[in-house]
Amino acid sequence: MGVIEAFRAAFGADPQTVWRAPGRVNLIGEHTDYNDGFVLPFAVPWGVTAAVSARSDGLVRVLSEQAGDEPVTLERLDDAKGWARYPVGVLAVLGDRVGGGADIALTGDVPQGAGLSSSAALEVAVATALNELYHLDMTPMELALASQKAENNFVGMPCGIMDQAASALSKEGHALFLDCRSLGFRHVPLDLASRGLQILIIDTRAHHELADGEYAKRRAECESAARTLGVASLRDVEDLAAALGRLTGDERKRTMHVVTENHRVEAVIGLLRAGAVPEIGALLNASHLSLRDQFEVTVPELDVAVESAVRGGARGARMTGGGFGGSVIALVADDRVDQVKASVSAAYAERGWTEPRFLPAVAAAGAHRVGF
Ligand code: GLA
Repeated sequence: MGVIEAFRAAFGADPQTVWRAPGRVNLIGEHTDYNDGFVLPFAVPWGVTAAVSARSDGLVRVLSEQAGDEPVTLERLDDAKGWARYPVGVLAVLGDRVGGGADIALTGDVPQGAGLSSSAALEVAVATALNELYHLDMTPMELALASQKAENNFVGMPCGIMDQAASALSKEGHALFLDCRSLGFRHVPLDLASRGLQILIIDTRAHHELADGEYAKRRAECESAARTLGVASLRDVEDLAAALGRLTGDERKRTMHVVTENHRVEAVIGLLRAGAVPEIGALLNASHLSLRDQFEVTVPELDVAVESAVRGGARGARMTGGGFGGSVIALVADDRVDQVKASVSAAYAERGWTEPRFLPAVAAAGAHRVGF
């Protein structure tokens, strides 16, 4: 059943609007967003569709494939459970401006557990629909910020702005170059096909439960290192050697990653602008090594996927997203794709691991209205 039929069946009328928001992969710029740094994500073709109508009695009803449809009132939003916490969190952040409440039906096709930001897609789909229905006149960036706040304050995940911004702002055929301090952004053409290249997503199917706790820990380490260095955030470190001399242990390693990763994003932007697309592969590899050795957010499933993809002929590969499982992206020449897949599958089989899933990453559009 499609989302409109599901809405009609549950709520007995047509929805007033239907919005779709995508998940994302990140080309490069990992764990830089909450350090005021640079990121370069793009939207994927999978996303969440939200069919929504405004109400006038302050009730919120959420119907999804994953969650039950227990109604929640705007006064008691904390009662929301499971999947409903994301849309309800968005309503909580928008507050009085959406005071009449809403009926919301959701469907999604983002591969679950692959680290492709289905939660950001969910938040942004609901935020963009409410923006239209309640005439909020918010920009896509403001809607991304409200969605991030919902995740930070309501779901309790201290994420940065990358995923929600990618979902709200992406443009088909382009990556989104975002300065997470100024929130200035540029759509960078990502023309791989004419170069005979593609980005292959390798979903490792691994998910490690420590992910959320370790994420918060990394963020705190970065903030502590910035305090020691007397800067507002690690974005501001200019003399890396001098900074490293003043730090020890984990904070030293985290700083090394964040500072070099920001430079790698800028280098990738330069190479893309020059049309030297295959050359970004080396920077993808360097990013992964830094996430493995300095930021320490990889797991064997991610490392083996990267190593075996490169051995199979990929120009470069790296984990994408928060880490501790999820997906790897590999930059691969069209005529090497089968070889790369075979190399990764063999490496997994050798270790007795679940067969990974391969998905082609095509840069898709950001959130948009799809009906009513
Ligand atoms: C997760 C977070 C993002 C970002 C990445 C790491 O996806 O939601 O904000 O920090 O991890 O780059």
